[in-house]
Amino acid sequence: MQFQTVDFHITPFDGTNPPVTKPDPKFLHDIGEEGMRALLRSFYTKLYHSPIADLFEEEFEAMMQAAQNSADFFIQICGGPKYFNKRRGAPQMRGRHAPFRITPTARLHWLTRFEEAIKEEVIAKSLSDPATIQSFWSYLDIFSLWMINTPYD
Ligand code: HEM
Repeated sequence: MQFQTVDFHITPFDGTNPPVTKPDPKFLHDIGEEGMRALLRSFYTKLYHSPIADLFEEEFEAMMQAAQNSADFFIQICGGPKYFNKRRGAPQMRGRHAPFRITPTARLHWLTRFEEAIKEEVIAKSLSDPATIQSFWSYLDIFSLWMINTPYD
């Protein structure tokens, strides 16, 4: 049997937007909708205490609502019910991020907080296997390049 771990690789920003592959739906199947909500709560709690906290809501309560909206999106992108479309409308992620100054450094903070949350909420709890978690990570790595709208720090 081959021992496999998740490679939390971060593709360097070079101004291009590589093609995006959606996460393997098995990720949602493995962790469940509640697991996805717990993952996003953990992630948003970390963002709240991160160097990019000023991009986000000031009140912790509002941050937890944002985590719910975000979980709606991730459940949907992993092949689950279309909660985000229903509650927030078409994703149009680039447009939704346009009001915020998203630099390559902000992306690094965003991704490394997500990595920590995945380690605590998915890997430590043995909820999914490395290949499946890898597909979720690769999606975040590539799609986060698309959110950069300010190429200098
Ligand atoms: C590249 C680094 C990124 C930064 C700094 C960032 C920052 C933000 C900020 C400031 C907001 C608004 C506050 C909020 O509702 O949470 C937001 C919303 C959101 N972001 Fe990001 N984001 C990044 C990448 C991504 C990526 C890659 C995805 C999806 C894969 C994503 C999904 C979302 C979703 C679903 C929302 C909620 C939109 C809504 O409810 O209207 N973000 N993000």
